[in-house]
Amino acid sequence: MASSTIFSLALQLLLLIFFPVNIVSLAENVEFIFNGFNERETSTTLTLEGASKFEPSGALRLTNRSKGDGVIGHAFYPHQIQMFDKNSENASSFSAYFVFAIHTQSPGQGGYGLAFTVAPSKQFPGAAAKHYMGIFNSSNDGSLSNHVFAVEFDTVNGHKETVDTQGNHVGININSMDSIKLEPAAYYDVNDKKEEMKLEGGDPVQAWIEYDGMNKVVNVTICPFKKEKPSRPLLTQAVPLSTVFKEAMFVGFSASTGRKASSHYILGWSFSMNGSAPPLNLSILPIPPFEKTNSSSSLKPQIKILIALFSALSIILLGLLICFKFYRRNMQFEILEDWELDCPHRFRYKDLYTATKGFKESEVIGVGGFGAVYKGVLPKSSGTEIAVKKISRNSIQGMREFAAEIESLGRLRHKHLVNLQGWCKRKCDLLLVYDYIPNGSLDSLLFHPIQNSILSWAQRFNIIKGIASGLLYLHEEWEQVVIHRDVKSSNVLIDADMNARLGDFGLARLFDHGKVSHTTNVVGTIGYIAPELARTGKVSACTDVFAYGVLLLEIATGRRPIDSDNFILVDWVLEFQQLGQILDVVDPKLGSSYVVEEMELVLGLGLICSHQKPEARPTMRQVLKYLNEDDLLPVIDNWSSLDSQRSEMNSRFWEIISADTITTSNLSLSIGGISFGSLDSGTGR
Ligand SMILES: *[C@@H]1O[C@H](CO)[C@@H](O)[C@H](O)[C@H]1NC(C)=O
Ligand SMILES: *[C@@H]1O[C@H](CO)[C@@H](O)[C@H](O)[C@H]1NC(C)=O
Ligand SMILES: *[C@@H]1O[C@H](CO)[C@@H](O)[C@H](O)[C@H]1NC(C)=O
Ligand SMILES: *[C@@H]1O[C@H](CO)[C@@H](O)[C@H](O)[C@H]1NC(C)=O
Ligand SMILES: *[C@@H]1O[C@H](CO)[C@@H](O)[C@H](O)[C@H]1NC(C)=O
Ligand SMILES: *[C@@H]1O[C@H](CO)[C@@H](O)[C@H](O)[C@H]1NC(C)=O
Ligand SMILES: *[C@@H]1O[C@H](CO)[C@@H](O)[C@H](O)[C@H]1NC(C)=O
Repeated sequence: MASSTIFSLALQLLLLIFFPVNIVSLAENVEFIFNGFNERETSTTLTLEGASKFEPSGALRLTNRSKGDGVIGHAFYPHQIQMFDKNSENASSFSAYFVFAIHTQSPGQGGYGLAFTVAPSKQFPGAAAKHYMGIFNSSNDGSLSNHVFAVEFDTVNGHKETVDTQGNHVGININSMDSIKLEPAAYYDVNDKKEEMKLEGGDPVQAWIEYDGMNKVVNVTICPFKKEKPSRPLLTQAVPLSTVFKEAMFVGFSASTGRKASSHYILGWSFSMNGSAPPLNLSILPIPPFEKTNSSSSLKPQIKILIALFSALSIILLGLLICFKFYRRNMQFEILEDWELDCPHRFRYKDLYTATKGFKESEVIGVGGFGAVYKGVLPKSSGTEIAVKKISRNSIQGMREFAAEIESLGRLRHKHLVNLQGWCKRKCDLLLVYDYIPNGSLDSLLFHPIQNSILSWAQRFNIIKGIASGLLYLHEEWEQVVIHRDVKSSNVLIDADMNARLGDFGLARLFDHGKVSHTTNVVGTIGYIAPELARTGKVSACTDVFAYGVLLLEIATGRRPIDSDNFILVDWVLEFQQLGQILDVVDPKLGSSYVVEEMELVLGLGLICSHQKPEARPTMRQVLKYLNEDDLLPVIDNWSSLDSQRSEMNSRFWEIISADTITTSNLSLSIGGISFGSLDSGTGR
């Protein structure tokens, strides 16, 4: 017996030691005051739940502005409060005084509200947000077992409210969100005049809730911050709280949001049982705004300056970037005309720009009469090397025909031609894209050999055959007859295998379309122009053969077609031919290292091809037969009968040359098409 009593006593003692709160927390005649909520000091004197938190400013924030399903926040005085006088059936008087503020994103968007709540528990499991304000839910709303007294400060209309309040109302609630009494938010001024108030305006609102336990009446009063408490309450309602309250209750606040959301703040709170709530020191309460709806104005000036500087800098940088992009784009910009769109050989200016590193000076591999030739590497097609000839035309006239012609020439493919890959036009520039040929022109190899690397006879003979087959292709083997019109040593390029590649074919013909020249459209290079062409301007395959003949003599003799002192290669060779000393004309650089039969063949063929009479010249097909020794070269005996004509022609040439309409470049003289300059090939030089 004794031991069990001792045990029971010990247990009670233990309980007392370890759970003192339970006993002490049933407070009588409680009175407290919070002039703001310093987290360090108040975290033990208030119990927060849900979205509630102490703000650094010292405000107690019940909810944030999270929308959607809504958030709930609770803040309660942690200790139970004895609500009844000893030995009395009547609930005690109490009084609460607090300052709150409701912040919305924008007017009308706030919700739902907050409520001063006296409840038997600090927790509200299953309570709903929105209209239920985190106190009730649809199933327990109105139940007598709730034992809840609340004064709601609601900002959203719609919950069974009969009075039209636009939501902005104050209500007294017992066990339910159905207010037993409600009024639109307002206060009575000193003249007893009712003044409306906007709860969610963001300004602090003072509120008093007083219960007279003797008369069982609740007074609810609100008024703007720093105004005297109105003598007349907004709401006065008889409420028998004795039938509602339990012995011990908790007091605090509950708030919730929903589709509409506000931040609900309590700025200060005092409470007293059986007396009037002590006054708050309004001058030390945290003052809104706490949230930065007007963000820049609340920032420190230094930060403002930083932000301004940063923005200015960003704008400048952005501007520069746009300018740079625009410049780059403009540099590569191309306006395409409709017809240009379906030209398969048209290159994009941008690609050529990239390939030639922006038409850099260092990429120039030759300068011809029309403009510079640049070496380029096409990045897209695995580094194909190209030569880009940039022709600056003064006029864009005839560009369309020009392009059509190039489109057609672009389809020419032969191993002894410098293939024209495509073209591109930009403003008045025309860019022609060719295969890149590494060894330069025949002209430079013949007359300016690098480091005494003289072309051997075998190489020369091979070149002669190559040019012939290229010309044959142009004249007869392609779908159209293409007259080269400017066969000359500087238009023959030598590739890596020392094979001849004829370049710039058809260009002269192309330039006819320009029709800018008011001179006769005799296009070609002096020394290579057939007599009938100079006389009549008539171009035919025979005129190409004439030029080819001159070229043969040039290759064999190593002398230019026309030189100073009225030297004319064809006449000079013919003289030796007639003297029977044809081998005396052979290029001295070759010495005796050549095949006599081939040399005689080439010199004889050269003379026949450059025969004064077009009818006497062979076709290119025939030329190839002679070169391959399939046919024997015919013997021509009456050269002399043409001498008079020939000298007449020669004097005409020299007249033209002295007539100041000729561009002279490296002794390669061109007439006709003067406005475009010389048709000199620069490709690969
Ligand atoms: C608001 O509070 C709720 C609950 O604490 C939280 O989940 C949500 O992220 C908060 N929203 C904002 C915008 O702070
Ligand atoms: C409340 O105050 C009244 C008179 O001011 C007093 O008679 C009563 O005992 C008090 N009640 C409590 C619980 O202190
Ligand atoms: C309780 O209230 C009634 C009137 O509502 C009053 O008559 C009675 O005296 C009160 N009891 C106490 C103990 O104050
Ligand atoms: C309503 O609240 C009560 C008490 O808080 C809880 O027991 C009940 O589950 C809740 N009902 C719903 C539907 O949440
Ligand atoms: C409530 O207000 C009325 C005036 O409307 C006043 O007579 C009464 O004393 C007030 N009660 C409390 C507890 O302040
Ligand atoms: C309110 O607080 C200020 C600052 O702490 C103090 O100077 C002032 O005396 C206080 N007023 C009252 C009425 O306590
Ligand atoms: C921002 O704040 C300044 C000063 O605090 C005020 O004058 C201005 O009206 C505010 N702007 C807005 C949009 O609230």
